[in-house]
Amino acid sequence: MQLFKKLFKKSFIVTSFTGTILFAGSNTGITIPYVDFPMKEGKGIYSTKGKCNMCHSFGYVINQGPQSRKFWYDKVIKMITVFKAPIKTKKDIETVTNYLFENYGNGELE
Ligand code: HEC
Repeated sequence: MQLFKKLFKKSFIVTSFTGTILFAGSNTGITIPYVDFPMKEGKGIYSTKGKCNMCHSFGYVINQGPQSRKFWYDKVIKMITVFKAPIKTKKDIETVTNYLFENYGNGELE
């Protein structure tokens, strides 16, 4: 019994100590900054918002800088084939590509 008590006491101390280390920083009020990537208003914005923001922020698009229509079309196809973005119809692919090109394009088709 004495041994049990001793062990219990030891493990209690170890547990409390570990707890202190693990949760030591939890009440220091760390706030994670919220970064907003507003989308330009334009035809097809709602389709694009629904289809392109479900896995990552729109920052991925904005950070590419102005690009050609082919670039945006290829990106949309890449998202579908590589990452399984649920964009099923040709019409949706066109709508999203056109939105991206009209608002984040460089005027070049190729
Ligand atoms: C099913 C999830 C998913 C959807 C939906 C999705 N993406 Fe992505 N996207 C990813 C992943 C995963 C990456 C790679 C992330 C990384 O490398 O950190 C990525 C990366 C990107 C990049 C960075 C460049 C690159 O080629 O990796 C761009 C631009 C991009 N996506 C645009 C889009 C656009 C436009 C749409 C809408 C048509 C879209 N994404 C929809 C998953 C998705």
